[in-house]
Amino acid sequence: MPRGVIPSPNIWKFPDVYETENLGVDPDGVIETAMRRIHDWAGQTVVDVGCGSGFHLPRFAVDAARVIGVEPHPPLVQRAHRRVASFGAGGRPLLGVLGHRAPRRDERIRVLRGTAQSLPMQSSSVDVAHARWAYFFGPGCEPGIAELRRVLRRGGTAFVIDNDATRSTFGRWFQRALPEYDAEKVERFWARQGWHRETLDIRWDQPDRASFEAVVRIEFAPDVADAFLAEHTGATVDYAVNLFWRTFP
Ligand SMILES: C[S@@+](CC[C@H](N)C(=O)[O-])C[C@H]1O[C@@H](n2cnc3c(N)ncnc32)[C@H](O)[C@@H]1O
Repeated sequence: MPRGVIPSPNIWKFPDVYETENLGVDPDGVIETAMRRIHDWAGQTVVDVGCGSGFHLPRFAVDAARVIGVEPHPPLVQRAHRRVASFGAGGRPLLGVLGHRAPRRDERIRVLRGTAQSLPMQSSSVDVAHARWAYFFGPGCEPGIAELRRVLRRGGTAFVIDNDATRSTFGRWFQRALPEYDAEKVERFWARQGWHRETLDIRWDQPDRASFEAVVRIEFAPDVADAFLAEHTGATVDYAVNLFWRTFP
């Protein structure tokens, strides 16, 4: 494993449950709407840093010109490759219908093994960078920020999506699970780097209680997960996130 890789036990150990989780994150598209208002990537080149199994790549590919996923963990690189191989142009699934040739795979999406600190792409080659719950967690991620600056073209925008531990049910869970987490320190870090912060309210919505319990259990240690599940009924939780962003001159 390359240096500087941050372990992600949720998706590394339980990629199928993480897929279920991703399907229920922000069903109203609040994050994407906010990002597009700041910098629309239609017709542009997008990199998803720490793309995991590539969940967001076909979504960007709906109207981006090119999409590159970067991920250090080899099993997830493979999963992302498989996902991309099963999508046709415009992010549509390739469903080889009997008697019809399947449409060509979408050549505009690529997946590369690499890290945020050493992005495997040329300088000034990207318009929009996106990192969702990956590597950019505040102090310590300066090498990745320097790489974003290098690969973005003038006027390009970088987005980082992370938990807002100061608000919402999920935010309170996160703070209880990690009492040493200092949300204000993280916010101050991004402000010092010259990044903007937009606070967003999303839902984390699972189709049934069993799926909800499964995703809570991959996000938190067993004792805290038990406590949260005992307190919370249903299969949805309100979830505050921070959208940090900067457009580079
Ligand atoms: C919680 S997962 C999120 C995956 C994806 N962004 C999503 O929303 O589905 C965090 C990802 O960051 C990756 N990661 C860890 N260290 C990294 C680094 N230094 N550079 C880039 N990605 C990293 C992990 O391997 C993991 O796939």
